[in-house]
Amino acid sequence: MKGLYTALLATAATGVLAAPSPVENGPITARAAAAACATPVTLSGNPFTRKIYANKEYKKEVDAAVAAISDSSLSAAAAKVGDVGTFLWIDTRARISVIEDNLKDVPCDQLAAFVIYDLPGRDCAAKASNGELAAGDLTTYKTEYIDPIVKIFKKYPNTAIALVIEPDSLPNLVTNKDLQTCKDSATGYREGVAYALKSLNLPNIIMYIDAGHGGWLGWNDNLKPGAQELADVYKKAGSPKQVRGVSTNVAGWNAWDLSPGEFSKATDAQWNKCQNEKIYVETFGPLLKAAGMPGQAIVDTGRNAVQGLRKEWGDWCNVNGAGFGVRPTSTTGSSYADAFVWVKPGGESDGTSDTGATRYDSYCGKDDAFKPAPEAGTWNQEYFEMLVKNAKPAF
Ligand code: BGC
Repeated sequence: MKGLYTALLATAATGVLAAPSPVENGPITARAAAAACATPVTLSGNPFTRKIYANKEYKKEVDAAVAAISDSSLSAAAAKVGDVGTFLWIDTRARISVIEDNLKDVPCDQLAAFVIYDLPGRDCAAKASNGELAAGDLTTYKTEYIDPIVKIFKKYPNTAIALVIEPDSLPNLVTNKDLQTCKDSATGYREGVAYALKSLNLPNIIMYIDAGHGGWLGWNDNLKPGAQELADVYKKAGSPKQVRGVSTNVAGWNAWDLSPGEFSKATDAQWNKCQNEKIYVETFGPLLKAAGMPGQAIVDTGRNAVQGLRKEWGDWCNVNGAGFGVRPTSTTGSSYADAFVWVKPGGESDGTSDTGATRYDSYCGKDDAFKPAPEAGTWNQEYFEMLVKNAKPAF
């Protein structure tokens, strides 16, 4: 799903159970009513002191994968992956249908996590994750994607929710603005993200706007324009209270604090002082604040256990040899990092390696990319097993 990175570059309706009053905006099941949390949630500060809910969709994928593994020690290790709390990607309008079935079962002290990902002209600098909405179709994005999601979230004011907003979109407007596809998407991205931020600004929700990673907006020349781009959209949304900062390394591969960084010896390293994600969030955070928006970060560590696999920093597709990384935690050792999180559900592909497919992107055919690989977002059993085998810490 990554673009090109250049240096410059929720009374039960049945009437059987009385649900706590604020929750009843529509039909909810008896089970949901019984599980419903008693009081409205108001999130402020770091929401990740709560455990992330291990959503059912990823659990289903992992359970099916486990059933297909014959090696007993590998299947035992793999089974544990389904208990890790990960983000649930709402990558199409159709996918909105899974939100409620997950929300209604989130324990009161946990945090449900979703990725908002359906902008018009999505993935403008790559092909693998091109979305269902054409560039310019902001009306559909607002009325058929964001508005229905907001309606569901409003039925669950007693449940804590964290959102990653539109991975790769604004970073692409900083570094890939010369591409015609990104030019065509630019207005839609800015207005779409602003609309999402404004509409999803509910007390029980905390949002993080995607900021690429250290090898993207971390280039010295991209840092300030990057912070400015995100802050402009944040302000355009009316500076929503429930935005806490940014997500980084989403579906990425960078280490948290490897030093020297993986690409520190590359000839262009002198132009990038953010050679690991820690340096990036601690450099970008203050710039975001200076530009007028909050600068906290969450960092995807889902697949970054093994370093030294990529030939080039920009290689983003199904990196071969990868392993599951550090489990989600709010213990990061950095005041700028709220949490290490698993945003990309490990085992779901980044893009197809089928050269004949419409969404084939050459990055998914590179030497360091795992092949064969199915369409972005679909399950890759062999890749999943590799992630389990190479997990650090081990499962
Ligand atoms: C895909 C999405 C998918 C997400 C999580 C993205 O690369 O485009 O369809 O939901 O990854 O796997």
